[in-house]
Amino acid sequence: MRHRKEHTKSEQPQPNIGVDLIRIHRAVTRGLAVSLETCTAFAKGGFPDTVSAEGFWWYCNGLEAVALAHHVSEDELFFPCLRERLPDQDFDGLSADHEVMHVILGEMQAAREASSLTAMSAALAIPFLFYNLEDDDRTHFMSVMPPQVTQELVPFVWKDIWAPMKPFLLD
Ligand SMILES: [Fe+2]
Repeated sequence: MRHRKEHTKSEQPQPNIGVDLIRIHRAVTRGLAVSLETCTAFAKGGFPDTVSAEGFWWYCNGLEAVALAHHVSEDELFFPCLRERLPDQDFDGLSADHEVMHVILGEMQAAREASSLTAMSAALAIPFLFYNLEDDDRTHFMSVMPPQVTQELVPFVWKDIWAPMKPFLLD
């Protein structure tokens, strides 16, 4: 009779907040690159159709939600802790970069509030993170989420909200 191997505490993957932060940065970096590239193309040639315009709108909203939440977590939580351990690093410079981005994100927020298009930010932000990450990064990120999010909310309950972003997401 085979016995299923039980994981001991030391064999379980240990949380690594540094790697998790790098992972989030990958999603935000891709989001910024796709947004910039798409803005440039749409500015030159106009929106190809209303579906693309709407999808891009939601993609930018997903980016806004993720970037703002990420910056707040860094400014208020991570940077104060890291300052003690890495006193020579320029965290003030990073926070100043955030402030510059927040002006743009604030303009996006104002545009959203002035429009008739609104959506629950989690229903955009979580799929935005999942599908701006590749392979192992996505697998890991999904594995630390509650199954209700990965198996119910994203694929079914929230699907109609985030589906218009699909042309800008990874498969
Ligand atoms: Fe960051």
